[in-house]
Amino acid sequence: MKKLSLLLATCLVTATAGIAYAEVDHKHPKQMSWPFDGLFGHVDRQAAQRGFQVYKEVCSACHGLTRVAFRNLTELGFSEAEVKALAATYTFKDGPNDEGEMFDRPGKPSDMLPSPFANENAARAANGGAAPPDLSLIIKARHDGANYVYSLLTGFTTPPSDMTMPAGMYYNPYIAGERLAMPPPLHDEGQVTYEDGTKATVEQMSADVVTFLQWAAEPEMEARKQTGLKVLMYLAIFTAFMYVAKRNIWKKLH
Ligand code: HEC
Repeated sequence: MKKLSLLLATCLVTATAGIAYAEVDHKHPKQMSWPFDGLFGHVDRQAAQRGFQVYKEVCSACHGLTRVAFRNLTELGFSEAEVKALAATYTFKDGPNDEGEMFDRPGKPSDMLPSPFANENAARAANGGAAPPDLSLIIKARHDGANYVYSLLTGFTTPPSDMTMPAGMYYNPYIAGERLAMPPPLHDEGQVTYEDGTKATVEQMSADVVTFLQWAAEPEMEARKQTGLKVLMYLAIFTAFMYVAKRNIWKKLH
């Protein structure tokens, strides 16, 4: 018995120590309120379009988005012609042709957005040993994903004076270990020019790219929430109906 309680106590201490460690290891993400949160959540199309621009002009230099096809972008409000023109600005390797040769061809709407590197090793070699992850599912892959990625993008700052940063590493209090191999990607001044006139501050670009990545990670989210809402409404009406029926039946029996 004594042994068992000792064992339990050890487990408990180890478990709580683990939690405590996680707490001090990095900051909790900033809690934002997103239009895509909650039961009525929807993706702000305008913000997601701006977010795609940020992805394309900034993040795509290092990160792929290989689970999103160009034609999926019509769901964000881009026209088919726009998507076709956009895809055609990319070059894809295809083949083999009748002579058995691989050849280059312009992109088509059915192509997936490409990865900037030929393979994982090339990605790692170009980024000081850490491969930039594909961003297609990043919002789902991280705990509290939208808030986390927003906090990460807006959270780069100077390290505490007692912390030395190895070359090629950057301080960010929101990531486990508080450092990563991604240089701060967003800057306030003239980095991106939005067509709709929105001012491209770091916070704005971060929120927009998170909105875009949320859509990319879960394109079925709106349909799912709408179905959920319909089911809830059906159940509410059904419950009310059953309640009235029950009252009527029991009234007669009394
Ligand atoms: C110069 C290359 C570069 C650019 C540009 C860049 N990143 Fe990264 N990113 C990296 C690298 C390298 C890593 C891996 C860092 C590590 O594991 O230490 C990374 C990691 C990440 C992560 C994962 C962090 C985690 O929890 O593991 C996210 C999210 C991310 N980047 C988002 C973005 C977004 C959004 C943009 C565009 C606004 C962007 N990055 C632009 C190089 C880049």
